[in-house]
Amino acid sequence: MRCLKLITDEILRSTKMETSMEVIKIEKAEIGYTGKPILKQIDLNIKKGEFIGIIGSSGAGKTTLLKSIMGKATVLSGKICVLNYDLNNISKKELFRLRSKVGIIFQGFNLVERLTALENVLTGLIHKVGVCRSIIKFYKTEHLEKAYQCLKIVGLQDKALDRCDTLSGGQRQRVAIARALAQEPDILLADEPVAALDPYSAKQVMNILQFINESPELKVTVIANLHHIEIAKKYSKRIIGIKDGHIVFDNKPALLTNHHIENIYTHLEQHQEESAMYSNSKLFLNNNNKVEEVAPVN
Ligand SMILES: Nc1ncnc2c1ncn2[C@@H]1O[C@H](COP(=O)(O)OP(=O)(O)O)[C@@H](O)[C@H]1O
Ligand SMILES: [Mg+2]
Repeated sequence: MRCLKLITDEILRSTKMETSMEVIKIEKAEIGYTGKPILKQIDLNIKKGEFIGIIGSSGAGKTTLLKSIMGKATVLSGKICVLNYDLNNISKKELFRLRSKVGIIFQGFNLVERLTALENVLTGLIHKVGVCRSIIKFYKTEHLEKAYQCLKIVGLQDKALDRCDTLSGGQRQRVAIARALAQEPDILLADEPVAALDPYSAKQVMNILQFINESPELKVTVIANLHHIEIAKKYSKRIIGIKDGHIVFDNKPALLTNHHIENIYTHLEQHQEESAMYSNSKLFLNNNNKVEEVAPVN
């Protein structure tokens, strides 16, 4: 009976998904860790197929936002719904299912370095392979084929049997993308995916993310925390700027002006420190965070 309910819930969820098109709905949410709020008054709707670039200073709350989508941060108030799973009221089983549909890649790749590229990608199939088979590396042909296909998408089929510790940073990040793709995710989260890469490798990785997002067969929704504004502007269809836990910009990249950028990257404390520093001289920061000189008083 219980099993039947789970199956019915799952069918209802996927039917809702096809009609609503919204993969993430966050309403007036306060999100943090063990009672400490980090993100405040967050209202955010993300549709299937979007490519979102998240920008903001260190500590602004970008990673916390990605964690909240995976159900790894606490919803202190408000509502979060991801792929029609209500995160305010989610069982362990449902959380496991949700996480199987959300892939994630990190700045530091998080691969098992002593395993081959193919073996790392196979770990992305653990939801299908099962933990026991995965531990003894007893894979079915279809799983090996799937992992190989994912390596092909990121252009690394020739490196399938190379250990990850022999690969370059860019190649490792591409293996991490292939591992996430093996999950057949609806959403791919990328936390500073190119921050540790040289410009050429960064471009390759971003092009792959763009392909995954735009290819009609994949159409994965991509949400990436990006360190470089130029990269964020070039690849994102929508940019979200976070400052001190608040969304202060949410629009098309073409509408992100230098004024917005200055606002997003000026910390409140930094602003106060700088204001204090400037107040000792004849310079001060105006409301637009621009430095102005005080006219001498005669
Ligand atoms: N697990 C955690 N427990 C408590 N506080 C955390 C945790 N992770 C991050 N924080 C705090 O949350 C704030 C935002 O961090 P984070 O989301 O990582 O910012 P960003 O990714 O923008 O640099 C920081 O003040 C950080 O110290
Ligand atoms: Mg971060």
